[in-house]
Amino acid sequence: ITIFKQVDAHFEEYLSQKSRMKEGFSDSSFARSSSGSSTGTDEGLFEQYEPLASSKGVTDKILWLRSSQMRDQQQVWQESPEGKRMLEFRSTLPAYKEKEAILSVISSNQVIIISGQTGCGKTTQIPQFILESEIQSVRGAACNIICTQPRRISAMSVSERVAFERGEKLGESVGYKVRLEGTKGRDTHLLFCTTGILLRRLLADRNLKGVTHVIVDEIHERGMNEDFLLIVLKDLLPHRPELKLILMSATLDAELFSSYFNRAPIMNIPGFTYPVKTHFLENILDMTGYRLTPYNQIDDYGQERMWKMNKQTPRKRKSQIASTVEDAIGAADFNDYSPQTQESLSCWNPDCIGFSLIEYLLCNICKNEKPGAVLVFMTGWDDISSLKEKLLTHPVLGDPSRVLLLTCHGSMASSEQRLIFEEPENGVRKIVLATNIAETSITINDVVFVLDCGKAKETSYDALNNTPCLLPTWISKVSAQQRRGRAGRVQPGECYHLYPSCVYDAFAEYQLPEILRTPLQSLCLQIKSLRLGSISEFLARALQSPEILAVQNAIEYLKTIGALDENENLTILGRYLTMLPMEPKLGKMLILGSIFNCLDPILTVAAGLSVRDPFLTPLDKKDLAEAAKSQFSGAYSDHLALVKAYEGWKYAEIDQGGYEYCWKNFLSAQSMKAIDALRREFLCLLKDSELVDNNAASCNTWCHDVNLIRAVICYALYPGICSVVHNEKSFSLKTMEDGQVLLYSNSVNARETTIPYPWLVFNEKIKVNSIFLRDSTAVSDSAMLLFGGSLSKGDADGHLKMLGGYLEFFMEPAVADMYQSIRREFDGFIQGK
Ligand code: CDP
Ligand code: MG
Repeated sequence: ITIFKQVDAHFEEYLSQKSRMKEGFSDSSFARSSSGSSTGTDEGLFEQYEPLASSKGVTDKILWLRSSQMRDQQQVWQESPEGKRMLEFRSTLPAYKEKEAILSVISSNQVIIISGQTGCGKTTQIPQFILESEIQSVRGAACNIICTQPRRISAMSVSERVAFERGEKLGESVGYKVRLEGTKGRDTHLLFCTTGILLRRLLADRNLKGVTHVIVDEIHERGMNEDFLLIVLKDLLPHRPELKLILMSATLDAELFSSYFNRAPIMNIPGFTYPVKTHFLENILDMTGYRLTPYNQIDDYGQERMWKMNKQTPRKRKSQIASTVEDAIGAADFNDYSPQTQESLSCWNPDCIGFSLIEYLLCNICKNEKPGAVLVFMTGWDDISSLKEKLLTHPVLGDPSRVLLLTCHGSMASSEQRLIFEEPENGVRKIVLATNIAETSITINDVVFVLDCGKAKETSYDALNNTPCLLPTWISKVSAQQRRGRAGRVQPGECYHLYPSCVYDAFAEYQLPEILRTPLQSLCLQIKSLRLGSISEFLARALQSPEILAVQNAIEYLKTIGALDENENLTILGRYLTMLPMEPKLGKMLILGSIFNCLDPILTVAAGLSVRDPFLTPLDKKDLAEAAKSQFSGAYSDHLALVKAYEGWKYAEIDQGGYEYCWKNFLSAQSMKAIDALRREFLCLLKDSELVDNNAASCNTWCHDVNLIRAVICYALYPGICSVVHNEKSFSLKTMEDGQVLLYSNSVNARETTIPYPWLVFNEKIKVNSIFLRDSTAVSDSAMLLFGGSLSKGDADGHLKMLGGYLEFFMEPAVADMYQSIRREFDGFIQGK
């Protein structure tokens, strides 16, 4: 009652302040609180009483006061000159015209799907419409909107933009949260976060208590996390009838989502784009004066039709066509252009598509075309950086008074992000080298020219071979259209597709959803940690369910590595692994590295496994590169070679930046930097999950014990294991399931004639004609025996790769028996403890 009276008194005071304002009296305390940045008197009081305010009347009043404060603040901004200008800009966006319609559909439906072209204002406007309309309502301060983004960078840039549009700083009514970073205040009612963050929140708060709206953005991308989130939300909706779910997509194929959510209404925001003139490789080559002689052979479609008739999978067909085109271009006759271009085009390489052709086109645009920014879609970050390096040495493209050369990819710094949206000075042409992030999630306003290399890095997974890979693959037709569309936002534009039109015709219509093409291990762990029941039953409720075989493989893998027990329940290890958002094997490695106090080298190994191979092997300097790498070998381990290389780099970096060191040793400076950054990130995660305390030095007492590090690597990479079979002059390698396997030629172990260890553990096997192992480390019997998986022999079909099975497969029965009894004793000893 006392609290109620005090709040009541304050309520009166607030109202009288407000009426004085209206009469034209300025009041300093009110003005301060309406700017939102400082704590006004009201807020102090709320802070004091809110936790105590259990009576509904009090809560309502507090909400009313807050809402009314927010309303005032919104009004002050909207009436200011900058606010008016901003509103004017916003009202030009196609989404703005649909504002009322969207809000009314949201108010009368629990789920709605909104589609509209990229740049029409979905991400920046729709969450804002909801926020603004909630603020106008009586209980506005109770609204709590969460908008998920597939990538960190879009969550960060969009939240900043929306705060700016609302005349605020980040952390007031708009905030963001991504892994290890975020800004969110007490008054934040609209939070942009990555999908992963919302999934983590569900871990602690299954009903999303207090959340009023969930907006899932970019659902057309069909990322694994988004598909997963949709299953969880679909299950949650009946328990939270007042929760609104809004799905946003940049493509028009929203039917699938609508039928998944019980025929939820679809709203389409009509868009407008200017015509875009399209050039395919054949036209571009004509323009440049090249002749692509054997091109006609694939142009007549004969082979393509045959493939279609054979009903091969689109993936296989795609790769066949890709190699045909690569062959054709490889054999092309480029007589009338500079030797440099000939060279680069004649080794058409899916990883780096004709840099010289791109250079030629960019230069041509800069010299001869109308003003307008150029957006170049590249395969990945590594391509972008090597192209940038090349362009910076170009007389025109590298001249900062003529060209503003920027990059746009998932790991760019926020200062660089901002430059992308800004207009360059007069006479300077903006060129942005981007990954497919610029396809739908980031809109660069003034683009008029688009170059599209036709590829993107895609994780793919072959359930039959159980081998994942991250490879550049041809994009889908929808992606190609999206890329083209980027050129026609402000005026008629031009798009250069750097591949022939017949390749485009063979593109798949849509990209396969991630859940159907990647290993499901992390996803399975997440399902378990959210206690969502049986993994396969849960995944059967997905928008498109993954193959049963893929699910089984994942479950089996998790059992093999000890993350799940026989009954598919999380083990203690599994529980720790769910706290580390990374591949389970990397998590395992870090956990054991910290337990055994050899964390420093293990951080490097785990980081090294997550970035592009830092050891470069340029085709023309292969011998030199191999010689450079061999300095780091000696331990029969690619992983330990990397640790040596990194330590050398770190030492050189502190002194002179490390570039010369990289250059001398054929190392990629970018990969080294990426490893350095990841190491820091991993360490934070370990501290977060309390595996490492703040004094990280104590985790490093054994970091020079090479055999211990080997054992930890073995523990993490198991069951990626093969037996070393020595013969007279050299050795061969055998795995239990594939028989003979080979090493990649750049492995330090590939150059050895003998390996004085009985086993190699490897990070990855890849199937190209034969099966190749990438990144291996030799391990001893004792490491394998104690740190390989658990001892049992595996299931009846020999599926589970348990250690007992390995020992029996590869060893003389007597030796295997002896080893097994040692291990049993060891296990008994551990359990006894
Ligand atoms: O989500 P959608 O692709 O529909 O568009 P959006 O990201 O909401 O962007 C709408 C418009 O806001 C863009 O066309 C840009 O003109 C502008 N915008 C901006 O100027 N700066 C940003 N950081 C983000 C968007
Ligand atoms: Mg968007």
